[in-house]
Amino acid sequence: MKNFLPGPTEVKPDVLEQLSKPLIGHHTEDFHKLLNQLTPKLQRLMTTRNPVFTLTCPASAAMEAALSNAAGKRILVLSNGAFGERWLKAARALGLAADGLILAWGFPLPEYEIGRVIDRTNCDTMVMVHGESSTGMLNPLDSAVSALKPRPDILFIVDAVATLGGIPLKMDEAGIDVLVGASQKCLALPPGVVPVGVSARALERSRKSKMKGYAFDFSSWQKRWQKGETLATPAIPQLQALNYQLDRIEEEGLEKRWERHQKLANMTLAWASNSGFVPFVPAGFRLPTISCLRPDPARETAPIVEALKAEGYLIDNGYGKLKNRTIRIGHMGDWQEDDLAGLLETLTQVLKSH
Ligand SMILES: Cc1ncc(COP(=O)(O)O)c(C=O)c1O
Repeated sequence: MKNFLPGPTEVKPDVLEQLSKPLIGHHTEDFHKLLNQLTPKLQRLMTTRNPVFTLTCPASAAMEAALSNAAGKRILVLSNGAFGERWLKAARALGLAADGLILAWGFPLPEYEIGRVIDRTNCDTMVMVHGESSTGMLNPLDSAVSALKPRPDILFIVDAVATLGGIPLKMDEAGIDVLVGASQKCLALPPGVVPVGVSARALERSRKSKMKGYAFDFSSWQKRWQKGETLATPAIPQLQALNYQLDRIEEEGLEKRWERHQKLANMTLAWASNSGFVPFVPAGFRLPTISCLRPDPARETAPIVEALKAEGYLIDNGYGKLKNRTIRIGHMGDWQEDDLAGLLETLTQVLKSH
C-alpha cells in the first residue's frame, strides 16, 4: 500500500528500521550524544538559534503545552479551518481568555483585518496555523508577521504541523515565539515526536506561568535541554529515527526538499484541472504539502477513496464537514514525482470506472 494520506505519511523502510535498534537509557552518555546530535539539526530545520525541544506526544498535546507555557492574559487565534478551531478549543479548555478571528473554512485571512482584530481584542498572544490540513490552505505567514511588526509585545505561536520540513519557514526571521512541528507529515516519520522551537520571550512567560503543569514545563525542559537531557523518559526509538531521518533530509538539502514539495503540488493541481476537480482554496493560498480537491458536486468522494485503496493507494476523504465533498492528497515527506505520477494515473483510471 502506498500512503498519500495527509498524515501520517509514508515512512521509508530504512527509517522504520531505526525503531528496532537496541534501546538506550535516557540517562546514558549515548542518549546525551543523541540529543546533542539532534539539536543543531533541528535548529537548522527551523532556521533558529532557539532551543528546540523534542516532545514525544501527539501534536495536539504540544499545542496545549505551547498555550499553557506561553499564553499571556488574552489570546487571539486566527481560524479558517479545523485546526484553527482546535487551537481555540484547546485555549478555552485550559481556561484561557481566547478570541478567534473566525473565518469560513478555506477563506483567506486578510492582512488588514489581522491588525484590526489584534487591537480590538487587546491580545498579548496570537496563534496562526501555517498549513491548514483540513482545507489544503497555506495561511499567509508574511501577513501575520507584518501585522505583528508594529505590535512587538505580542507573542506569536505558529502551528507548523503540516509544513515543517516541506515549506520555507524560518523561525527567527519571522519572529516566531513557539513553533510546533510534527514528525508524521513532511518529515516522513512515524507519529509521536513534536519538535517545538521556543524563543527567550516564550521561556520568560513559561517561568511565570501558573498553568504549565510538570511534564511540559518549557522552563524545566530548557534546563534539561542545556545538559543534553529530557525532562522525562522520551520515546527513544522515535528520537533515533528522527536523528537518522534528519541526516537524510540534510543530504537532500532543505531548499531542494521545499522545491520538491512545490513541484508535487503543481503536478497535483495540473492533474486536478484536467480531471474535473477544483481546489478547495483559492490560488495563492494552496499548500505545497496537501491538496484538498472538490469533485463535481454530484460525485461523492468516499467511493473514490475506497476504490483507490483497492488499487493499493491511500488518500483521504474530506475532513469533518468536508467529508464526502472533497478528497485530500498528502504529497509530502519523501514522495518523489514518479511516485505521485503513479497515484494520479491510478486515480484517473479509478474515476473512469466509478
Ligand atoms: C495543522 C495541524 N495541526 C495540528 C494537528 C494535530 O496533530 P496530532 O493529530 O498529532 O495531535 C494536525 C493533525 O493532522 C494538523 O494537521
